[in-house]
Amino acid sequence: MQGIGIENYGERPHLIDVPLPDPGTGEIEVELYAASRNPLDEAVAAGYLAGLGEFRFPLILGFDGAGVVRRLGGGVSEFAAGDRVFGQFWGVPMQFGTFAEATLVQARPALGALRRIPDSVGFEHAAAAPTAAMTAAGALDTSGAKPGDTILILGATGGVGTFAVQEAKARGIRVIAPAHREVSDALRELGVDEVLPSDGALGDALVGLGAIEFAAVLDFAGAADIVEVAAEGVRDGGTVVSTAYGVPDSLRSQNRIVGLDYVLDEKPARLDHLADSLAAGTVRPVITHEIGLEDAARGVAPVNGGLRGKTVIRLR
Ligand SMILES: NC(=O)c1ccc[n+]([C@@H]2O[C@H](COP(=O)([O-])OP(=O)(O)OC[C@H]3O[C@@H](n4cnc5c(N)ncnc54)[C@H](OP(=O)(O)O)[C@@H]3O)[C@@H](O)[C@H]2O)c1
Repeated sequence: MQGIGIENYGERPHLIDVPLPDPGTGEIEVELYAASRNPLDEAVAAGYLAGLGEFRFPLILGFDGAGVVRRLGGGVSEFAAGDRVFGQFWGVPMQFGTFAEATLVQARPALGALRRIPDSVGFEHAAAAPTAAMTAAGALDTSGAKPGDTILILGATGGVGTFAVQEAKARGIRVIAPAHREVSDALRELGVDEVLPSDGALGDALVGLGAIEFAAVLDFAGAADIVEVAAEGVRDGGTVVSTAYGVPDSLRSQNRIVGLDYVLDEKPARLDHLADSLAAGTVRPVITHEIGLEDAARGVAPVNGGLRGKTVIRLR
């Protein structure tokens, strides 16, 4: 079976051939139709997550995917052959990721989550969403923002950010986001209520908002200097939540607002919520690139003048 992976940490991901074993107890074999990339994949290839779970080599990369259950090991009651499934395919041990023709994973992956794909949702949308959309919803939950509140999103153009904008709007939360001028229209179409300048003028633009105070800043970009400026617009007792370790030390050492790192948690429940949201159309992946398996090892630039969104790998 062919997939994109590595034989050792630090290698450039490349096309490798690796046999897929028969499904063991509790495992399912899934024929993959689509996968999607996340910054997490690069972190795994670099060895930064070596202490999390157990990675075996040769390691096929990729956590997010969607496909059809082909074979079941003993004791699997969650799925049947022929089921369309999606989610974060993160088992322990982890060897057969989603950047491949097929994968072998625990039906209940120890560090991920899998669900049936709602009938109305296609493989590519299902594959594009799991990690980014679950992270967006989790960060929003952690922020404590409520309907009627206003939040500021940093990194609204990216995978997590494009879902966070939609998730916030679905919850009746007003969204403000700094961004380059060329993506302003695309962000407004996505649901952002007000787009601010993203360069050195952000501080002035925040002052220009006058009485508006943010219940929270959600940071998906990881630039601590920008987070520090944005945090000045947060109301007393509000939050700054970062998935990209962007909370500056200055925020950790004061008591006016709360600065938190968020790591994706409660994956099975969050995947249930995502399946409902995709079926209802309250969130829809922003897919900006569709590439083949051979191209999955290479980086892709944002579409000129467009959002970064998600890159989907077509596998069928
Ligand atoms: N903690 C967790 O459990 C968890 C889960 C998922 C993701 N993450 C992390 O969350 C972050 C976002 O993930 P993602 O999938 O959305 O990544 P992504 O698709 O690459 O998006 C990154 C976003 O950050 C912006 N950005 C990057 N560097 C910036 C800078 N120096 N100044 C301003 N904006 C900058 C990008 O803007 P442009 O489009 O303009 O470049 C884009 O909006 C990543 O750091 C990822 O590792 C963490």
